[in-house]
Formats: sequence, structure tokens, C-alpha cells
Amino acid sequence: MKIGLYGAGGFGREVFPLIGGHDRHLLADAKYAQPDTLTIDQFLDAGGTHFNVAVGDSKHRQAMAQRCIDAGLIPFTITSPRTYIAPGTFIAEGAILMPFVAISTPARIGRFFHANFSVVVGHDNNIGDFVTVSPAAQLMGNVTIEDNVFIGTGAIILPGVRIGAGAVVGAGAVVLKDVQAGQTVVGVPAKSIK
Ligand SMILES: CC(C)(COP(=O)(O)OP(=O)(O)OC[C@H]1O[C@@H](n2cnc3c(N)ncnc32)[C@H](O)[C@@H]1OP(=O)(O)O)[C@@H](O)C(=O)NCCC(=O)NCCS
Repeated sequence: MKIGLYGAGGFGREVFPLIGGHDRHLLADAKYAQPDTLTIDQFLDAGGTHFNVAVGDSKHRQAMAQRCIDAGLIPFTITSPRTYIAPGTFIAEGAILMPFVAISTPARIGRFFHANFSVVVGHDNNIGDFVTVSPAAQLMGNVTIEDNVFIGTGAIILPGVRIGAGAVVGAGAVVLKDVQAGQTVVGVPAKSIK
């Protein structure tokens, strides 16, 4: 197995060491090439088989993941020995689960989920595809997060709240009520700014 991590920025370099024990490479498009990166074509020529995408912006991540899948690469989930995943939790392909993430049971989590350092996912959460949760954010029980949502650092989502597709929750927000699709909310209690 030869694993490529697509995205060689700050987050990519945080995630890269977690792919221990495998033949691993950082991947970047030619315009972002660095001395230690390969393009997808170079990675394929070198016998690359698996990939993940270390880019926080969910729409970019979705497009990049599709590029890799179209090239024949297979999604690879990245986690750490210090990540807690409760038994009975379902996590779809392509997740990145950083150290000190705790996922309670039973959660259902979609494709290419990012949970950064110290994220808490409470019981009975239902999380869509390409969702990004930033460091130390906390999702309480029975929360629903639809596709392509971005949750900022340290945000708290109260029990039973639904966050609509493509919404953005600002850093430090406390979300008491449902958030409509595409909205950006900030503050305590969280209110829409767009
Ligand atoms: C919510 C967020 C996406 C808004 O960004 P934006 O659309 O560029 O918005 P702006 O910076 O123009 O701010 C718009 C208004 O919201 C306020 N605001 C922005 N973010 C806020 C936040 N997190 N909490 C409270 N108020 C906030 C600004 O003060 C501004 O208020 P004003 O119009 O009264 O001056 C961004 O501020 C944020 O919180 N991002 C999360 C970053 C993060 O956690 N990254 C994780 C990296 S690992």
C-alpha cells in the first residue's frame, strides 16, 4: 500500500506523521509543488494506490477527492492511537480523525469527515459528507450536521440541533437553534451574519 496525502499546507503537514508504518507521500498540484511533493500523475507513476485529502475547505476537498477517485486511487482513513471511536459508530471512507478526538456511540458519519484535535462528537450524531470540524469543537447528543458544513474552533452545538448543508459556524459560537443551509452563524448565542 502506497498512500498519498493530497494537500501539503499546514494541515497536511500536521496529518502526514499519522500515516505511520506505510509508504507515504505528500501530493500537491503542479502550481503548489514543493521539493517533497508529487503530483497525482507522478504518484500514480510511482505505484500509488491510496489517498486522503488534507484540506479543510469542504468544497475543495470534495473536488480533490473526486480527482483522486477518478484517477483510480482508493480512499484511506487516517486516525491516531489517541483517537477514541466508540463501538457501533459508522464512519464512511476518507475520514481524518486527529489525536484526542472522541466519538461517542452510536454516531453515523459520512464520507471524508475531518475532526481536528480534541473534537467531541456526542451520542446519536448524524453527520453528512465532507464535513469539517475544527479543533476543540463539541457536538452534543442527537446533533445532525448536513453535507459540507464547516464548524469553527471551539464551537459548541447544543443537543438536538440541526446544521443545514453548507452552513458555517464561527469559532467560539454556541449554537442553540437549528441553522439553515448556507447560513454563517457566530457568537453566543449564535446568530446569522449572512
Ligand atoms: C465565521 C467566519 C467564517 C466569518 O468569516 P467572514 O465571513 O470573513 O466574516 P468577517 O470576518 O467579515 O466578520 C463579519 C462579522 O462577524 C464577526 N465575526 C466573525 N467571526 C466571528 C466569530 N467567530 N465570533 C464572533 N463574531 C465574529 C466580525 O466581527 C464581523 O462583525 P462586524 O460586521 O460587526 O464587524 C470566521 O470569522 C470564523 O470564525 N472562522 C473560523 C476559523 C476557524 O476556526 N478555523 C479553524 C482552522 S483549524
